[in-house]
Amino acid sequence: MDLRNSTILITGGTSGFGFEFATQLLALGSTVLITGRNQAKLDDTKRRLPSVHTFQSDVSDPAAIRQLYQQVTTQFPALNILINNAGEMRKLDLQDPALDLHDITREVEINLSGPIRMVQQFLPHLSTKKTAAILNVTSGIALSPFPLAPVYGGTKAGLRSYTQALRVQLQNTPVKVFELVAPAARTPLADPFSAALEDNMLMDPSKLIAHAIKSLQHDKLEIYPGMSRLMRIMSRLAPGLLLSQMSKGVTETFTQARTKA
Ligand SMILES: NC(=O)c1ccc[n+]([C@@H]2O[C@H](COP(=O)([O-])OP(=O)(O)OC[C@H]3O[C@@H](n4cnc5c(N)ncnc54)[C@H](OP(=O)(O)O)[C@@H]3O)[C@@H](O)[C@H]2O)c1
Repeated sequence: MDLRNSTILITGGTSGFGFEFATQLLALGSTVLITGRNQAKLDDTKRRLPSVHTFQSDVSDPAAIRQLYQQVTTQFPALNILINNAGEMRKLDLQDPALDLHDITREVEINLSGPIRMVQQFLPHLSTKKTAAILNVTSGIALSPFPLAPVYGGTKAGLRSYTQALRVQLQNTPVKVFELVAPAARTPLADPFSAALEDNMLMDPSKLIAHAIKSLQHDKLEIYPGMSRLMRIMSRLAPGLLLSQMSKGVTETFTQARTKA
């Protein structure tokens, strides 16, 4: 992909990977548009990256996606790349009777329904471009369950499956479909899990996104930076061993939390 001459929409661009993508793509010369729910975080990002274009939009809200589409395609008709990055990850004890039936699927709405709806809304526009791309940000956790965050894992495995199916359906179109299988990295999303992850297991987000951008430039459709490459091999050769590694400390974590409550 020629990123320099691209107009790129990134969901969740105010923090972590989204902010890194925005920073590095602006440095390359791309036109960069970002979204987020929190206007104060969008304003702060605009102060730090004056040439970024910000749009307040919640990816879990279909009406907000329709409105975003109208605004973005009117103001930036050259838009040719969509990066579905916004996401949330929660520790959830499935034995907790206080878990609310509506709230328990919040990550599904953001991490899975969000990208599916964004693609559905933006695909007709992207298909009119000479070259276009969709990049979905999944996770090493798409390759093996992570029992501390059971719903999150389900969303990332679902998004990976959807992304592979989308790639097949779009194979004879100008729209390339990329997947960034991201390993654990030092961002606010990973903070609540730091006790379960040793510091040397967390990748530097700037290196991770630099790897992703290089891969986009070389049309590498499946991107496995850092530990996710090893997870990919383990998920094929020793899935049971990988799951037992990913399950470490789960029982203790939730037993301690129940005892305190
Ligand atoms: N960090 C990791 O270890 C890791 C590993 C693998 C995959 N990932 C994936 O990478 C992506 C980015 O994660 P991150 O670590 O960079 O997280 P982060 O630092 O917490 O940033 C998340 C971004 O998404 C936005 N966001 C959250 N919910 C949103 C919604 N409903 N609508 C629009 N924007 C929303 C946030 O802004 P607002 O809160 O203002 O909306 C923020 O800009 C996620 O899909 C995550 O699952 C992360």
